[in-house]
Amino acid sequence: MAQTPPPHRSGAVVPDLPLEAVPNHVAVVMDGNGRWARQRGLPRTEGHRAGEEALVEVVAGAIEAKVRWLSVYAFSTENWKRSPSEVRFLMGYSRRVLRQRRDLFNSWNVRIGWAGQRQRLWPSVIKELDDAAHLTRGNTGLNLTLCVNYGGRDDIVAAARAVLGEAARQFSPASGKSQTRGASPGDAAALVETMMASLTEDSISQRVATPDVDLFWRTSGEQRLSNFLIWQAAYAELVFSDKLWPDVDRRDLWDGIVQYSSRQRRYGA
Ligand code: FPP
Repeated sequence: MAQTPPPHRSGAVVPDLPLEAVPNHVAVVMDGNGRWARQRGLPRTEGHRAGEEALVEVVAGAIEAKVRWLSVYAFSTENWKRSPSEVRFLMGYSRRVLRQRRDLFNSWNVRIGWAGQRQRLWPSVIKELDDAAHLTRGNTGLNLTLCVNYGGRDDIVAAARAVLGEAARQFSPASGKSQTRGASPGDAAALVETMMASLTEDSISQRVATPDVDLFWRTSGEQRLSNFLIWQAAYAELVFSDKLWPDVDRRDLWDGIVQYSSRQRRYGA
């Protein structure tokens, strides 16, 4: 039996909004851990450690607000440029947070998924991500996508390759000859045509890691997308808050949702 998250310790309750005013998919750039630590004279890793509670809070807040999809940027394809010791910390930290929080999220009916490149990612982190996804695969509540070793451009390229590969595999040349031996120039041209036709906005949208983003929320005062869900955020409403990630709780997510609900989305119309 699914449990509901405990209420916020302040007693704050989720704003009363009609369901259609709530974003279906919220993308979060959890930024500011390093600065939070520096302000306290602590090593950067302490900022990451302090950010764990904020993640749990925001998951709880998303469930209470009836958000369907929540995607969080835990480690980008660019984060490998950080110092080896911070990269090592972030890998071990992700593994530990997953192991320690998956049962709680499971009890909240959260379905955990993950997006990102397997290449270069620590096998033990991949295992933890796969295990959490497996454990929660039957859940019907919030879809939480952990973006680890994720890059938006990479997501688009992988989606395009998948679409093109599928079109090529399904292609049968009119002459009936194999595509590799004895194919006529006409067959090659038809193959190119088929592959080009397969590449559409819809086919890519179906292959990228998540559905379209409605609310893109970044903390710490930075106002950038930083290669996070860039295809999916084409029409997202952007909300930036000044708080550093470890200072965030579910009320900050709710503030973002209230701002979102007051925006007029026009999709170019
Ligand atoms: C950005 O702060 C934050 C991160 C790189 C990591 C955030 C990850 C978590 C809070 C949880 C991860 C959990 C799982 C389960 C994968 P920053 O270091 O860029 O801060 P700065 O901009 O102040 O330096």
